[in-house]
Amino acid sequence: MKNNELLQFAVSAGNKAYAPYSGFKVGAALLCKDGDVFCGCNVENASFGVTCCAERTALLKAVSEGKREFSKIAVVGGKGNDLSAPCPPCGICRQALSEFCGDDFEIITVKDRESISVYRLSQLLPVSFKSNNIEG
Ligand code: THU
Repeated sequence: MKNNELLQFAVSAGNKAYAPYSGFKVGAALLCKDGDVFCGCNVENASFGVTCCAERTALLKAVSEGKREFSKIAVVGGKGNDLSAPCPPCGICRQALSEFCGDDFEIITVKDRESISVYRLSQLLPVSFKSNNIEG
């Protein structure tokens, strides 16, 4: 799937965001290696720390449906109805993705109105804490 197409899925998901506190809506679209796409939005809470980011919403939906292998995620954000702001995943989401995604997993977000940014997970989360770190 083309990056622009995945970004469009992310925009649609972001329009469903529940963000009454920050007003910042985020949408994510996660592409599985088998071609399926799982979307998510941020879901805020009056107890702010309970908020779930869009990326983790998408990841948890996918994993809970049996998916384990992913190739890329598109993420967009913005205030109001314009979801065209860059939205690199937060640190918690990078760690959550690293549980299932290899170093070549791609993170796609917008750069400006004309161009997009593509990052590798290894760029955004180098020297990550993984399962091998808790094996004796
Ligand atoms: N947010 C995400 O959904 N993903 C990120 O990677 C960064 C932040 C959400 C959380 C909160 O609802 C709002 O954006 C403002 O921080």
